[in-house]
Amino acid sequence: MNVQVTQPAIGLDGIPAAITALSLVDGLKGELIIAGAAVEALAKTHSFEETAIQLWQIADSAAAAVEAAQFGAFRVSAFAQAQTICPSLTHLAPIDGLRAGIAALDIPDGPDAALAITAALPVLVMTLEALRAGKTPLAPDPTLSHAADTLRQLRGTAPSEAEAKALGAYLTTVSDHGMNASTFACRVIIATRASLVSAVTGAYAALSGPLHGGAPGPVLDMLDEIGGEQNIAPWIAEALEGGGRLMGFGHRIYRTRDPRADVLKAALGELAPSNPRLDFALKVEREAQAQLAARHPGRKLDTNVEFYTALLLDALGIPRTLFTPMFAIGRVAGWTAHAIEHHARRGRLIRPEAIYDGARP
Ligand code: ACO
Repeated sequence: MNVQVTQPAIGLDGIPAAITALSLVDGLKGELIIAGAAVEALAKTHSFEETAIQLWQIADSAAAAVEAAQFGAFRVSAFAQAQTICPSLTHLAPIDGLRAGIAALDIPDGPDAALAITAALPVLVMTLEALRAGKTPLAPDPTLSHAADTLRQLRGTAPSEAEAKALGAYLTTVSDHGMNASTFACRVIIATRASLVSAVTGAYAALSGPLHGGAPGPVLDMLDEIGGEQNIAPWIAEALEGGGRLMGFGHRIYRTRDPRADVLKAALGELAPSNPRLDFALKVEREAQAQLAARHPGRKLDTNVEFYTALLLDALGIPRTLFTPMFAIGRVAGWTAHAIEHHARRGRLIRPEAIYDGARP
């Protein structure tokens, strides 16, 4: 007899898969705590390097502390590896090139592995980007902050302080977020005692889908497609009528506004107070919220982090093809911290079950 599955869409909602001190997502209150601080405060007070170090220390308080200044030296070592890894990957789209680049990293497990992998991500992204454009990749400047050097490697010139601050706030804001799909993937892989590079490769693969970290590029595509103010309401109505999902709206956990959206909106306001794309996006946001509320009265579908990620990264001159890789440059701090925490707490193999509703002999 087949088992009747009454819940048609099993997504492990509400089932704890780990115990963690790294971050807390309170979906009902719309609160996010990372490394013991509210995300709104953390994005103002902590650089990305400080946030990552704090996450790693919380994950394993017995581990030797890393210093922020070490990130630069590790970016320089990653650049040497990137010169051999990246030339054969330029045929891939940036989102896929990074996946292959992470998988090819030669970083053995050990006390420095989390720092080495975290430092390598922007270097891989920017080396690939330069090679794709037929340019000579720019070596990292170890004296700059992680955010500033990432922008410098992309553009060839150092960014302004305000730009580096805005990107730093973004990286900190997305550094960790509870048991999201990519972090869960990372935990599943590390729990098999696979290497940290393997766990981060798998986590990135999970991040790359449009229902997770692949949404911000399509957010800009959506704004471009809508085009003008007069098209906003009919475009959204037609998209929803056709069963489409509006990119940058809705969240599995938040039943109210995603607090990260407001942190990034504030960072964008500081960086580019008069921004025509932002004005237009605000109108799209209002109309989308109204139409989603009318169609789903029992399910609050509000703006998520990806909507303002798209606007902030666009204002920083980052091409939309790099939006998901940029997300990974921040989230890798959380992935590696979860992997460290899993082992520090002697985590078990993660092995759930499936409800079988197939034929029996
Ligand atoms: N646009 C239109 N309808 C939506 C949206 C949306 N953005 N989000 C949810 N819905 C609808 C669903 O179609 C569903 O309708 P139905 O009941 O008629 O079938 C209903 O709202 C309930 O949605 P769920 O499937 O329960 O939402 P779920 O928790 O599975 O999905 C998700 C969350 C994937 C983020 C979803 O809201 C979505 O696809 N959003 C657009 C993509 C996006 O912005 N992704 C980035 C998320 S943030 C991040 O991961 C960093």
